[in-house]
Amino acid sequence: MQNFDFYNPTHILFGKGQIAAISAHIPAGARVLLTAGGGSIKANGVYEQTMKALEGRQVTEFWGIEPNPEYATLMKAVEIVRREKIGLILAVGGGSVLDGTKFIAAAAEFDGEPWDILTKGAEVKRATPLASILTLPATGSESNTFAVVSRRETGEKLAFGSPKVYPKFAVLDPETTFSLPLKQVANGVADAFTHVCEQYLTYPAGAALQDRFAESILRTLIEVGPKTLSNPTDYESRAVFVWSATMALNGLIGAGVPQDWATHMIGHELTALYGIDHARTLAVVLPHLLRVQKAQKLEKLAQFAERVWDIREGSVEERAEAAIRRTEEFYESLGIPTKLAKYEGIAAETPQAVAGKLEKRGMARIGERSDITPAKVREILALSLAA
Ligand code: NZQ
Ligand code: ZN
Repeated sequence: MQNFDFYNPTHILFGKGQIAAISAHIPAGARVLLTAGGGSIKANGVYEQTMKALEGRQVTEFWGIEPNPEYATLMKAVEIVRREKIGLILAVGGGSVLDGTKFIAAAAEFDGEPWDILTKGAEVKRATPLASILTLPATGSESNTFAVVSRRETGEKLAFGSPKVYPKFAVLDPETTFSLPLKQVANGVADAFTHVCEQYLTYPAGAALQDRFAESILRTLIEVGPKTLSNPTDYESRAVFVWSATMALNGLIGAGVPQDWATHMIGHELTALYGIDHARTLAVVLPHLLRVQKAQKLEKLAQFAERVWDIREGSVEERAEAAIRRTEEFYESLGIPTKLAKYEGIAAETPQAVAGKLEKRGMARIGERSDITPAKVREILALSLAA
């Protein structure tokens, strides 16, 4: 097992009615900036519950954080945080509102050009405290250090990570997710599933417990994903899904193990170039990446086949291929196409365009062994295009 440093301070408030409990976790007298997206929280009653819980406090509101949050939008909120001496930023909505809020919190206390946090990996030394009421299970952003921000004028979608932006608390009330369109629920299941694969489908590292945690999350998502899609207001299955999505990317299963993340890096470029939903980009990349990297990932693919998909017949290669096929079928069963050609705007040049963008950004060697080169990125996307 590799050495690791695991620290996750986010206080999780899970379950029905937990929005009412937030006040106890906000310092007395702190001025609150509520951040939100395009209005889903007004339609489903979450805004009303939140304002009730914040009664008696000074609250400013910032609306309009878009899916794949935009730098220019977020910089407007940075002004407000600085001007109004905000003590806590409360992100109410999906992963984009929360990621955007993490960036706002870091940028508000940053000396210099905040864009450097994303392009140059400039260190985040301080951040305004932030917390979240999360209404879309998918990203794990509610208890991790990461955020992804886009800049449409330059076609960029970039990530940063810092322990300074861990949410102080996160409310996960499964009932707040009942209003999600089914497409977003499917996206959430696929995103969480892929997060586990990025940390599990690498090479053996003597981390038996992390492996079994990962396998249990995958099996749970395979079981509960279809249930929560076919019965979206069933509390029990939604609760299991919400908690699985958090556990998929809160640092626990990734501690002490090699990690891949090439699927996400390629996927972020597909979103930046073509506006494809984040989770959908993962479904068009992962199965094809696993095929191209089959030899390097063979042992873990065989373990994945046996322990996640109950595949015990055939040679190691056959079992690995069967597991990749089952993964593809799983995404498809959620209504998510795994073939690049199924998405709007894709052309014969797409593989080259994506590989070129990654290379320009200095990401010419990605994956757990740094062996996914621009040539391999082209091969992966060409496979997806031809499939
Ligand atoms: O804007 P509103 O009106 O709130 O509507 C949102 C949005 O249109 C809607 N929505 C959210 N909760 C709802 C709801 N509609 C009805 N009922 C509810 N309860 O859903 C739409 C999509 O929301 P968004 O926040 O964009 O989705 P998601 O949570 O999937 O976040 C995607 C973003 O997270 C990044 C992605 O790249 C993408 O930018 N990621 C962040 C990660 C992290 N921080 O660790 C890791 C991920 O791999 C990912 O890259
Ligand atoms: Zn993701």
